[in-house]
Amino acid sequence: MRNTLVIILAAGMGKRMNSDKIKVLHKIAGKPMINYVLDQAYEISNDVVCVIGHQSEKVKNELNSYKNLSFVYQEEQLGTGHAVMQARNHIKGHKGPVLILYGDTPLLKHETLKNLINKHISKSAGMSVLTSYLDDPTGYGRIIKDENGQLLDIIEEQDANTNIKKINEINTGLYCFSSDLLIAALDNLNNDNNQGEYYLPEAINHIRKSNKIITESADSKEILGVNDREDLANAEYIIRQRINREYMNKGVTLIDPKSTYIEEGVKIEKDVTIYPNTYIKSGTIIKKDVVIESNCLIADTEISESVKIKHGSVILQSTIGENTDVGPYAYLRPQTSIGKGCRIGNFVELKKSSIGNESKVPHLSYVGNAKIGEKCNIGAGTIFANYDGFNKHETVLGDDVFIGSNTTLVAPVKLGNNSKTGAGSVVTKDVEDNSVVLGVPARLYKKDN
Ligand code: UD1
Ligand code: CA
Repeated sequence: MRNTLVIILAAGMGKRMNSDKIKVLHKIAGKPMINYVLDQAYEISNDVVCVIGHQSEKVKNELNSYKNLSFVYQEEQLGTGHAVMQARNHIKGHKGPVLILYGDTPLLKHETLKNLINKHISKSAGMSVLTSYLDDPTGYGRIIKDENGQLLDIIEEQDANTNIKKINEINTGLYCFSSDLLIAALDNLNNDNNQGEYYLPEAINHIRKSNKIITESADSKEILGVNDREDLANAEYIIRQRINREYMNKGVTLIDPKSTYIEEGVKIEKDVTIYPNTYIKSGTIIKKDVVIESNCLIADTEISESVKIKHGSVILQSTIGENTDVGPYAYLRPQTSIGKGCRIGNFVELKKSSIGNESKVPHLSYVGNAKIGEKCNIGAGTIFANYDGFNKHETVLGDDVFIGSNTTLVAPVKLGNNSKTGAGSVVTKDVEDNSVVLGVPARLYKKDN
């Protein structure tokens, strides 16, 4: 199949999305729609051409990680046939089949496409059309066949009469062509229809006379063309089911898959348990035996083995060491790293901070721009006052530090190993090892040697 040329049409704006952003860049489960199509295309061949027009620079940028991807530019969107014409130079001289895909058909699986190409080759067809049967075919081109099941025509919704509109076999818009026949057909397309567009399906009229046209039908769940936000939500639903099914097959327990939202680009190991209403975004890695309770949002975070994330926690761009408990209702903001065996409790906010092994921040604290050593205990209501109205400053705690409840640590400030603060202290100056400070502002109370 490596001699297949794949052409992906993605020039149209997608008016029915009612968006300032081109349709193919809208995301499904955290990944742009067009990336799904490209991933499948590369399963078939490395010879891939993308037809772009609207927001072409943005599309190019989004796709810059795909190797050997060629772009052709369609200045005006005059129809699917016209779009393919822009790739004429790639088609000409290409020996082997040409597969046409749409940037807005993200659910398609490469197995289905391979099957289409194989049938195209084995039956020596000139054109092979992927069709599907839909309960509600509204909006799609309808497949017109004779009594022998031979394809006669494809009629667009806009050009269809009521009888034709009743046909529920539809054109998915995906085809396999022999390259020389495609070139000849493109040269003869006209725009004599109700939309004044150059329709690619019109190629049928030029190929049918001299060559065999076959149809192959695909599962209706794969061929959904995303035209509006409702289709986008349907696609999201189907992708979510696929993602969740895959994790469950790999040994992850999803208590309620219907309310579990895991984006593309996440890794979850086996024997992880995920409770309902949880949203896990791209870049997240979750190791074995982790439990994530309900109503959590986790993005771009690495969670080590046997961690427990309790109800209602929000965790962004952080790392969490083994056997640590977080939450309920904790908020870990970007660049936070927590060691092993720690406990981060309820209503604790951490930002750009590191917490050493076996340290605890159990209740009602704000920890910002802090480095906390090992085996520290941060009392309830402690505030790391990191902002003086102009700049953020750092607070550094050694190991075995005990911060009394309701302490305010005014940064920049350092507290040595085994130091303590009394409840309600406001610490404005550095504290030496083994010292106890208290009061407002905090003063040395005693020092052990
Ligand atoms: C097309 C088919 C229809 C089929 C449906 C399946 C035609 C005439 N009709 O209709 O039979 O049932 O797909 O989804 O082909 N595009 C360009 N340049 C253009 C026009 C379109 O790049 O000038 C791209 C669009 O960005 C999109 C794809 O081609 O990714 C399909 O275009 P769209 O306008 O959505 O076609 P449909 O009207 O849905
Ligand atoms: Ca469409």
